[in-house]
Amino acid sequence: MPTSVSLDVNGRVVTVEVDDPGMPLLYALRDNLQLKGPRFGCGLGQCGTCAVLLDDEPVLACEISLTKAANKKVVTLEGLGSPEKPSPVQQAFIDEQAAQCGYCLNGMIIHATALLAKTMNPTIPEIKKALADDLCRCGTHLRIIRAVQRAARRA
Ligand code: FES
Ligand code: FES
Repeated sequence: MPTSVSLDVNGRVVTVEVDDPGMPLLYALRDNLQLKGPRFGCGLGQCGTCAVLLDDEPVLACEISLTKAANKKVVTLEGLGSPEKPSPVQQAFIDEQAAQCGYCLNGMIIHATALLAKTMNPTIPEIKKALADDLCRCGTHLRIIRAVQRAARRA
């Protein structure tokens, strides 16, 4: 029998009906709420591309169950900004043309946003550490680091 779970996603309280409330938060975001910013990569907590903010902390949405996210504040890539009004971090990634295929960028932007919320002027080692969970198979790491530095200068 389907179960209702309430979530606070991008500032809106929504209810999803699911068969298994223990399923990963990622599935509810993508399949029930059509939020495609968080991506499915490995499904095993090893690539970072599913990252979201949960009560302002970055988490891997493929590893957190839907029930654990209930009553917490979830922010996805869509909640940071929009194509018309990107967040400073999103704009910096555009300005530095940090994407090649773009698959890793959700995780990169979520982790960079969490870093800059706490550390206004991060060093390169601090940026690398914050993005260490995010795998980029295209190798655009230098541009990504420059994008985070650019966003930090804007903040
Ligand atoms: S899909 Fe979550 S870490 Fe890879
Ligand atoms: S830009 Fe392709 S995986 Fe990072």
